[in-house]
Amino acid sequence: MIEALLAQGSLVGASGKVAPISRIVATDILVEPTGLPADERVSYRGGDISDPEFVALLFADNPESVFHLAALVSGGAEQDFDAGMRANLTGTIHLLEAARRTGGCPRFVFTSSIATYGGDLPEIVSDEYHITPESSYGVQKAIGELLVNDYTRKGFINGRSLRLPIIAVRPGGANTAASSWASAIIREPLNGVDYACPVAPEDRGFVLSPLKAIEGLIVGHDAPDEAWGRNRSVMMAGLSCTAKDLVDALARVAGTPVANRVRWQPDPFVRGIVTTWPTQFSLRKASRIGLEADASIDDIVIQYMGDGC
Ligand SMILES: NC(=O)c1ccc[n+]([C@@H]2O[C@H](COP(=O)([O-])OP(=O)(O)OC[C@H]3O[C@@H](n4cnc5c(N)ncnc54)[C@H](O)[C@@H]3O)[C@@H](O)[C@H]2O)c1
Repeated sequence: MIEALLAQGSLVGASGKVAPISRIVATDILVEPTGLPADERVSYRGGDISDPEFVALLFADNPESVFHLAALVSGGAEQDFDAGMRANLTGTIHLLEAARRTGGCPRFVFTSSIATYGGDLPEIVSDEYHITPESSYGVQKAIGELLVNDYTRKGFINGRSLRLPIIAVRPGGANTAASSWASAIIREPLNGVDYACPVAPEDRGFVLSPLKAIEGLIVGHDAPDEAWGRNRSVMMAGLSCTAKDLVDALARVAGTPVANRVRWQPDPFVRGIVTTWPTQFSLRKASRIGLEADASIDDIVIQYMGDGC
């Protein structure tokens, strides 16, 4: 994300005009960040966004833009309700309040999630569909979206909530996301590791690569207010595919012996979360904002092979 911002070099500022990025303050609860780009515009402050005093320090220079990606992701927030509420709800409220106190109506990009959907879903989910999440994480993200809408309506921030699809292939190790399998099913075999996949071959997901997700967050930040309308939430573009489709793409791109490192070991906890998420969307608003999916699943595998492996 930070590399992409540095490469672009500018963002649409609070005034609506493009302005150079003079400074990026990165943050995470981790004391020592890994892989932070060496650039004089980038600094790092480690801390917990559920601590309001820390968040006030973060906002000391009245930023014009906020990209809020911190979260305790789906599986983790389901297993530890209190920790999920702290990171995902209390933390988000503190960031919104700090953004409001700048007085400059900063653009505020909130990474929401496909996990905000649930219940009796239509085959194709439209932009107008009411979200009815079925996990604590999804509920925390849905509340965040409502707050982003209200803070925007009040003129405290210029908010934009983007519901991320399942992101694959995430680099590094597995996290507590219930969707972690969609990355591991490609990443582990490519790194020579056997992988026991916790969903069934026919289980379907809606998938977007990290590069397209990052590009989308920046496009969503810069898009004009008219493209967003009064509801500041949008489902991002993505590709609908089964777990088997991902393994087939891996076989096409990297060869059958690599794809054969995947075996199926469905886990009811993981399936219980991911099978409540929709897999097809109308995506009219996403295209109005300028959000794009990857060209193909093979491209998603190739991107990781060129990037992260
Ligand atoms: N990866 C996906 O498939 C996916 C899908 C939908 C939505 N999202 C959302 O996108 C965002 C980024 O996801 P990711 O996959 O990079 O997740 P990640 O778990 O890799 O990164 C989240 C980061 O937030 C930090 N964090 C957690 N609690 C914190 C706190 N209290 N204070 C400060 N930092 C804290 C963690 O240390 C972690 O580095 C998250 O908001 C997530 O909910 C991700």
